[in-house]
Amino acid sequence: MVSTGRVGCRRWPAGPLAVVVGVAVVVASGGCTGDSSIVSPKGPAARSVTGLWWPMLAVATAVFAFVAGMLLLAAARGRRRTEEQAKGPAPWGEPFIVVAGVLVSGAILVGFFVFSLGRMQALADGARHTKLTVSVVGHDWWWEVRYPNGAVSANEIHIPAGVKVQLALTTDDVIHSFWVPRLGPKTDMIPGQRNRLWLEASEPGVYRGQCAEFCGLQHANMIIRVVADAPADFDAWMAREAEPAAPSDAPGRRVFETQTCAGCHTVRGTQAAGKVGPDLTHFGRRDTLGAGVRPRTAQDLSRWITDPQSLKPGATMPPTTLAPDQLDALVVYLDGLR
Ligand code: CUA
Repeated sequence: MVSTGRVGCRRWPAGPLAVVVGVAVVVASGGCTGDSSIVSPKGPAARSVTGLWWPMLAVATAVFAFVAGMLLLAAARGRRRTEEQAKGPAPWGEPFIVVAGVLVSGAILVGFFVFSLGRMQALADGARHTKLTVSVVGHDWWWEVRYPNGAVSANEIHIPAGVKVQLALTTDDVIHSFWVPRLGPKTDMIPGQRNRLWLEASEPGVYRGQCAEFCGLQHANMIIRVVADAPADFDAWMAREAEPAAPSDAPGRRVFETQTCAGCHTVRGTQAAGKVGPDLTHFGRRDTLGAGVRPRTAQDLSRWITDPQSLKPGATMPPTTLAPDQLDALVVYLDGLR
């Protein structure tokens, strides 16, 4: 059977397309205004990444607009030719396919490859000028942080502002990925391997990061907070963080050491020497608990101790049953670990 008639022309209104593009732009920009924005770099490593990302976005947008335009043009024109006509030579023919599909695409890919080499070189150069190395170990689902003077912390990584800091990254269990978008690129944490990444914060502040490799139930709640201090403040912070906990005869200390807490957590200078969970020697100086899942308030801490699964389902920490006065004493003790 030979079709001879024209097929009806269906026009695609531009309105819905504009709405889709508009919504995408609003969603994208809304996600780019927080303290983990990828388009608001606050250090040279992150600027290297952003400097590659914007041109890629511009070119990708131009290519998308061109392809979408061609698609809309085809849809608007409809199928006006007969099958006999369609078998003949196409109006733009093979040269169009060769130029747009091969030459232009190839030039874009090669161009970005060459352009990215410069960025990679800048990142490699920066790695040779780091002044401090901090070890970070990924755990399901928190971050262990070790400093060269022996200080051990968790989840909140202090660095001096204006200084290139090398991070030595590894993991205690599965693959995680360390990513603080405003300070640098992301780097995987691989079992049995030590990967390196450097960060620099141009100015003091708190920069939010996130595990960027799916690692299980609480992957989304594996939050990093990088706190960039003025260099003198950082030196004081690190020196203090390395010290054991101040002597305490708070009633909560006995609760901590005799209940399950001490089996998993260390408080240096006390009998608590567990190695499973975060070191809590200076827990009272941190702003959050559960790797950023809640602010460190007395109320949230009480809930975290008695029912951590309600705040972070799947976390290794078991519930602890305590009498109300024991719980209050424990919260006071933990808050006092400054
Ligand atoms: Cu750790 Cu995702």
